[in-house]
Amino acid sequence: MMVDLRSDTLTRPTPAMRAAMAAAEVGDDVFGEDPTVNRLQERVAKVLGKEAALFVPSGTMANLLAFLAQTRPGDTLILSEDAHPYNYEAGNIAAVGGLMTRTIKGSLGQITRAEVEPYVVQTPDHHYSQTRVISIENTTNRGGGNIYSLETLRELRELADANRLKLHCDGARLFNAVVESKYTAAEFAKYCDSICFCFSKGLGCPVGSILAGTCDMIEVAHRFRTMLGGGMRQAGLLAAAANYALDNHIERLRDDHRRAREFRKALEGLPGVNFLFPNPTNIVIFEVPDVMQFIGKAGGEGVLMIPMGPKRLRAVFHLDIDDAMLAHAIKACRGALT
Ligand SMILES: Cc1ncc(COP(=O)(O)O)c(C=O)c1O
Repeated sequence: MMVDLRSDTLTRPTPAMRAAMAAAEVGDDVFGEDPTVNRLQERVAKVLGKEAALFVPSGTMANLLAFLAQTRPGDTLILSEDAHPYNYEAGNIAAVGGLMTRTIKGSLGQITRAEVEPYVVQTPDHHYSQTRVISIENTTNRGGGNIYSLETLRELRELADANRLKLHCDGARLFNAVVESKYTAAEFAKYCDSICFCFSKGLGCPVGSILAGTCDMIEVAHRFRTMLGGGMRQAGLLAAAANYALDNHIERLRDDHRRAREFRKALEGLPGVNFLFPNPTNIVIFEVPDVMQFIGKAGGEGVLMIPMGPKRLRAVFHLDIDDAMLAHAIKACRGALT
């Protein structure tokens, strides 16, 4: 049995999602004429309580467009040292955005007003790079799928307002936060100037992310999407998958969270295993004495996980993992520890 826990990006479209894609009404989205993309963008803007939204090929592009649209080269972006754009987006912040980064240690992949405030630079002195954007991640990937409290978001908003900064949320897994908390997507989004989420992770779509914000910001982001070659023609095929996922794949994220909890519970307390922090959603990060040996042994039983350091590794639960696979993964991990 193969149990691929490396990432929730591994999900494949279900037969019903494929049927929705096949039936999609399409047009040329670069001309703004794909009715399914247009419907999706309007729907998501409404769900997030924003003026407008833009469908893009990836979470990487969504983050980059948010930064490009709200900064100028030479500005500074503040984010957690665990943030995805800082670690895994090929240095695009510097290479494409021309931005300086000020990283904050934070905890659980999150940053707070108290941690960020000392690093905000707002001065007429032309020697200094001005801080322009604070970027947060909800849920946090390297932080073990943790969820921001609304209180922390409110405080970050106040800091942004006091310094004329923009607050961006990389909500690649925003709906994992929604189903696990008592908040709606709009309640999380209301503190942010820009927010994006991915369809191609827990929501189970083959491709696609979306960025939302004001009409003016989305207009600028749209221009940068074109500049970066991110215009997709009959993208309604992909938008149909996204619409299907919004209708059918949000509530089921709870199943992924339950399986992640059961996985952790089954391994917690075993000799050599250390869980570093809470894992409230679908990402479990833990430590073992020798990660490559552990991953090799589990891999021999068909259970795949990703190393995150000499001792640390990550298991992610998603649409393509059922209870029988969970049981097999637990057995293989127990075996790999002996
Ligand atoms: C938190 C977070 N942000 C952004 C991304 C980038 O998404 P994509 O792979 O679609 O570029 C990922 C991908 O795993 C992610 O985990």
